[in-house]
Amino acid sequence: GATTRQPKATRNIAEKLDEANKDIVIFWGSQSGTAESFANRLARECQVRFGIAALSADLSDYDAHTISLIPTSKLAVFVLSTFGEGDPSDNATGFWEWLHQESRAEVRLPNLRYAAFGLGNSNYKYYNRVLDDAVRAFDGAGAQRLILAGKADAADGSTEEAFHDWKDKLYDVVFRQQLGLEDRHVGYTPGLSVVEDPSLSPIGQQKVLSGLGAKARSTSSLVKDLKIKCARDLCTSPEVRCLHLELDLAEHPELRYRTGDHLAVFPVNPDAEVQLLLRGIGMDEVRAATPLLITALEQGVRFNLPSPTTALALFRHYLEVCAPVSQDTIIELSTFAPTLDARDLLLRIGKDKESYATFVASTHVTIGRLLSLAAPDTTWTDLPLSYLLETIPPIQPRYYSIASSSAVSPKTVAITIAVQDTPLPGDSTIKIPGLTSHYLLAQAESLNRNTTTTTTVRRPDSQNTAPPEPMSIIPGQHRLFASVRQSKFKLPVLGTTPVVMVAAGTGIAPFRGFILERARLRAVGKPVGRMIMFFGCRWREGDCLYREELRRLVWDMEGTLEIVTAFSREGGDENRYVQHKVQERGDEVCKMLSEGANLYICGRATMARDVGRVVEELMQERNRWSEVDVQNWSRLAKKDNKWQQDVWG
Ligand code: 2AM
Repeated sequence: GATTRQPKATRNIAEKLDEANKDIVIFWGSQSGTAESFANRLARECQVRFGIAALSADLSDYDAHTISLIPTSKLAVFVLSTFGEGDPSDNATGFWEWLHQESRAEVRLPNLRYAAFGLGNSNYKYYNRVLDDAVRAFDGAGAQRLILAGKADAADGSTEEAFHDWKDKLYDVVFRQQLGLEDRHVGYTPGLSVVEDPSLSPIGQQKVLSGLGAKARSTSSLVKDLKIKCARDLCTSPEVRCLHLELDLAEHPELRYRTGDHLAVFPVNPDAEVQLLLRGIGMDEVRAATPLLITALEQGVRFNLPSPTTALALFRHYLEVCAPVSQDTIIELSTFAPTLDARDLLLRIGKDKESYATFVASTHVTIGRLLSLAAPDTTWTDLPLSYLLETIPPIQPRYYSIASSSAVSPKTVAITIAVQDTPLPGDSTIKIPGLTSHYLLAQAESLNRNTTTTTTVRRPDSQNTAPPEPMSIIPGQHRLFASVRQSKFKLPVLGTTPVVMVAAGTGIAPFRGFILERARLRAVGKPVGRMIMFFGCRWREGDCLYREELRRLVWDMEGTLEIVTAFSREGGDENRYVQHKVQERGDEVCKMLSEGANLYICGRATMARDVGRVVEELMQERNRWSEVDVQNWSRLAKKDNKWQQDVWG
């Protein structure tokens, strides 16, 4: 038959707003998904509470210059994240280039009426730079800013709260005062249709995978299920737990990596949380495994969920069900409460910032726990599945720096994992287990137990239902959903270029890859430049990652590689952190940098900031530079990739 072709979607935002009949566009530039879910939430609230037709829009779906064509009758909102060294998200690179283009001064935006919110982390040098640059450019081009731009700082964990406050201001000043709109309190209007259809084909591993793959960005490979080849503990200290995992790429020839790249790991939610949520909404095993067809009820409603799928697959693989529930969601949930007590409790928790903060400071409330806490013996029969699918943020992959060298082991990729728990701010005895690290730990332990016992996947009796989902841990077959993300964190092109590396904790991961790669070069008789690595951990024994292996490599490299350790908890040494060791070796570090060495820093953002400051001070002092000189030097070094960082949190 004839192929029907979809009409090509317009890349002109003004045209799109016109076509779709929307009053407001909410653009998002999102890397980890937070800005995206904020934009979606805002769009839904505009629609439901104020009757404003809203479009949540991926910045990369439109040509940035068409922003100037948005008429004054419509509003534009920008939710923009900044990450790393002041970088825009991948989906905002086109927008970013437009903001910084040479002919910027000629762009006029007299019709643009906008509001903007930025997500950043003040532990990084260029805090919320994308937002600041956008606001400066818009205002400079004559746009009308409706309210003060809002900023969220992930460093103190107040992102959610900051968004809430800014959103309230938008509603108050713009929607109520300027537009004269009333909060309609109409309650929940579904944006998605979710229909059970037992006749649909079963959902298996492949379906789960292809759904996850849909989220892959341009710099990431497709998502594949990688076999875990081996797992071992790196620490002997009871206080920290670190794992080394090796994954097999041999089954996926299309999956390639380069030393210094990242592995994106998709966690699988723990069964206990998934079951709690299913029980809360009164879904038994059979219904949880029944195929669902999901469609958008309205043009412009975006969803990143696969269809057909099952509730079980969604809760297990696609939705962040272990995240704390937001204040807005708690209030919304109260309208579906099965009992008066449940409703009162939720309204009390969510009534203001203080009571919500008190609650989350001492209780780890996932959605499943909240439902059972508020109504212990009742199921939430009025709570629509569509509400949960629209409200619980989509699961995001967690990125790990690859710890192997592609030159040495192109078909095996290694990662280093710190198994983490976050204590609650108000009650440090309650620890929230890190979702992905604990998932990986469970996989590793199961692999090493070499289990042959079957897990509790039961087939529903009915003929008409789909076969069960694969369990997160398949006996004898330990696999992870993962993809490779390219990074710019790369060894110098020339093997002879000297390198200075600074790492703390699991920040050592990419340097293991670097060192292995250069050791290989040397082994095949190539000349190799000097390498010095500063490495920080707590104790001489216990958490000194890859100690034996590195000791051997230092020996093999015969003076080409030196490792300087900093032990933060051994006592007796004032100079306990890596930056102190860098300072002690200041003359040599400066000499190496001045002679063309590359500088690499990997680990937490606060560490990278402190180390960077020490390096700048050293260079300034040694070279008798002014403050301006040294700032120019570090800016240029970063621009030329002489100074590279791989940094998180
Ligand atoms: P601490 O836990 O004793 O504070 C890996 O996490 C290592 O980095 C630990 O030894 C840790 O020390 C140390 N560390 C923590 N904060 C740091 C910082 N700002 N700069 C350098 N090292 C730091």
